[in-house]
Amino acid sequence: MTDSDEATASNRPLSIRVPGAARLAHGKSKTFAFQRGKLAEEGFVLCWEDGLYAFANSCPHWSVDLDYGMNDFYDASLGRIVCKNHGALFHPQTGFCEWGPCTGHSLERFELESDGDDVLVSVP
Ligand code: FES
Repeated sequence: MTDSDEATASNRPLSIRVPGAARLAHGKSKTFAFQRGKLAEEGFVLCWEDGLYAFANSCPHWSVDLDYGMNDFYDASLGRIVCKNHGALFHPQTGFCEWGPCTGHSLERFELESDGDDVLVSVP
């Protein structure tokens, strides 16, 4: 039985370890892969100011990845997460889309906790 099967069977969230993510600098990110049901998905941990935030790497507009697979989510000049497909801007703390085709919608945000240098992301 895989982790995702176990989580589904027990309705517990998946806990995904993202090695080294607790040491990210402001504006830097690290992606992680996970399986939810039968779907292979990706998320990312972003350091913004003094906090760490985790989101699904999926634009609410088209459900495609935000970064063209480049682990490059944050635009320092705008201070926002940017979808490279059509330029939507998301607040780095909340994932709320402030501008673009998905204005008013949000990235799926995940709870997380630090564990030494790593981050544990909780995926429902
Ligand atoms: S796919 Fe993200 S703004 Fe269109």
